[in-house]
Amino acid sequence: MISSHINTMESTIKNYEGVDSWKTIILLYNAALKEIGTKLEILNDEFQHVHRYNPIEHIKSRIKTPESIVRKLKRRGYDSTIENMVKYVNDIAGIRVICSFTSDIYRIADMLASQSDIRVLSIKDYIKNPKESGYKSYHMIISVPIFLSDGAVDTKVEIQIRTVAMDFWASLEHKINYKFSDNVPEHIKRDLRSCAEMVSDLDAKMMDLNDQVSTIID
Ligand code: GTP
Ligand code: MG
Repeated sequence: MISSHINTMESTIKNYEGVDSWKTIILLYNAALKEIGTKLEILNDEFQHVHRYNPIEHIKSRIKTPESIVRKLKRRGYDSTIENMVKYVNDIAGIRVICSFTSDIYRIADMLASQSDIRVLSIKDYIKNPKESGYKSYHMIISVPIFLSDGAVDTKVEIQIRTVAMDFWASLEHKINYKFSDNVPEHIKRDLRSCAEMVSDLDAKMMDLNDQVSTIID
């Protein structure tokens, strides 16, 4: 029998000191972004091959800045240690997948979740349950094993999956929050919520149109 040797992130970083462990952590998160990015590209390519259709419009990925990691730990009342950041900050490696249609979001999420090396740690479906702000998106925290010289380390990645229209809304809302330092006037919040409704209507209509056209062409 093949025994899989999975190290925890905590035990991996304890083998290193100071800057070395920080470098190891960032190396792991970068590797995880590459792994997930490749998995998504493969799924998209296969879809193109089988269905002549790309469910993914584009993918953006980023590593959280050290400042932002420290800010998040502080906000939650934790000391800025490497152990705490690995344990409590789930979005150090983040990947955003932009799809054309809402149905693509669930298709991509299911295909990823069913891969044998991926562990789904949590799901937040802000499409079925939008945030108070009107924000819609499908969030998953997953872990993927990264194979280093002395074994594999399960590494967390936050995946946000949304449509082009949801992304358009989220970008503007983010910019507005930033401009007002999170003290957005009530009337602007209201307008944003009404835009979010329009985004949902548009997404539903576009998906319906696409379904109609697909049945004619295929
Ligand atoms: P964070 O501490 O902000 O990471 O939130 P969380 O740990 O409670 O997780 P959640 O799934 O709610 O949010 C994760 C990420 O989704 C955020 O960092 C943002 O990138 C995005 N997000 C969540 N809510 C909103 C929102 O109302 N507007 C926008 N524009 N983005 C949001
Ligand atoms: Mg975040």
